[in-house]
Amino acid sequence: MEKILQIKDLSIFRKIISGDTQNIIENIDMDIFKNEIFCLIGESGSGKTTIALSILKLLPISFDIISGEILFEDKNIIKMNKEEMQKIRGKKISMIFQEPSAYLNPLMISGKQIEESIKENEPDKKSRVIKILKEVGLEEKHYFSYPHQLSGGMQQRIMIAMSIINHPLLLLADEPTTALDIITIHQIIHMLKELQKKYQMSILFITHDLSIGMEIADRIGIIYKGEIVEIFKPMEIENLSHPYSKKLFNSMIGRYKKGERIKITDEKNT
Ligand SMILES: Nc1ncnc2c1ncn2[C@@H]1O[C@H](COP(=O)(O)OP(=O)(O)OP(=O)(O)O)[C@@H](O)[C@H]1O
Ligand SMILES: [Mg+2]
Repeated sequence: MEKILQIKDLSIFRKIISGDTQNIIENIDMDIFKNEIFCLIGESGSGKTTIALSILKLLPISFDIISGEILFEDKNIIKMNKEEMQKIRGKKISMIFQEPSAYLNPLMISGKQIEESIKENEPDKKSRVIKILKEVGLEEKHYFSYPHQLSGGMQQRIMIAMSIINHPLLLLADEPTTALDIITIHQIIHMLKELQKKYQMSILFITHDLSIGMEIADRIGIIYKGEIVEIFKPMEIENLSHPYSKKLFNSMIGRYKKGERIKITDEKNT
């Protein structure tokens, strides 16, 4: 299978005011295939967002990439300049975040905000936006909605519309469902899967919830304290070897038995 992204031996340090450095990411190897949903799962502070931001070259200034390569279409993102990155960000690779409200402009109607992602000289932007609104499960009238008039789930749909309007090859989804209720989580996950198939994108889906990974992913990578400790397919979940992965698995099964989760499915197996 063809790879859309290859992360090779990536290490990232953070400079601390005292002059010391903190290892954030250590010697990570991770590939994402074309048309694949790769799910990165790990506890808070394990380095998930750092990996996503490094792919878009958006790391905070105190972070240093000290080794490694991030190959996208066989070119090393780490070596790319501003102009090269501008051609990629929001176009070939786009990103959605946990808190859509933090990224939406409260003073601008949603449709106009989506339009801003489209190239300047393109004709009939509005009808393109209305089409994409429908694809993410919203209606034409939501073009005119201000963010505060929309629920969290609807705001996330606006963010998703914005991120896919240029048909990216890779979508980075950093805990896009964490702030949502369980029904909305399942709706958004299902929709992302449909959009992934329709647009033939790859998705890096970040979460701390293994049951969500089981539902959406083709492959799952477990990250623990800045290292990827295990990569597996959902159907291989019973064979996990790292103690942290086993702990995640046991807690998921525990919750499942108590009925907290509605369902854990792998559509490809049913
Ligand atoms: N802006 C920042 N300034 C200082 N330290 C940071 C900053 N961003 C992240 N860190 C540190 O970098 C490490 C990795 O953080 P990162 O945000 O990548 O983790 P994460 O896995 O995404 O966590 P979460 O699940 O909470 O989002 C953590 O130790 C965190 O404290
Ligand atoms: Mg994070």
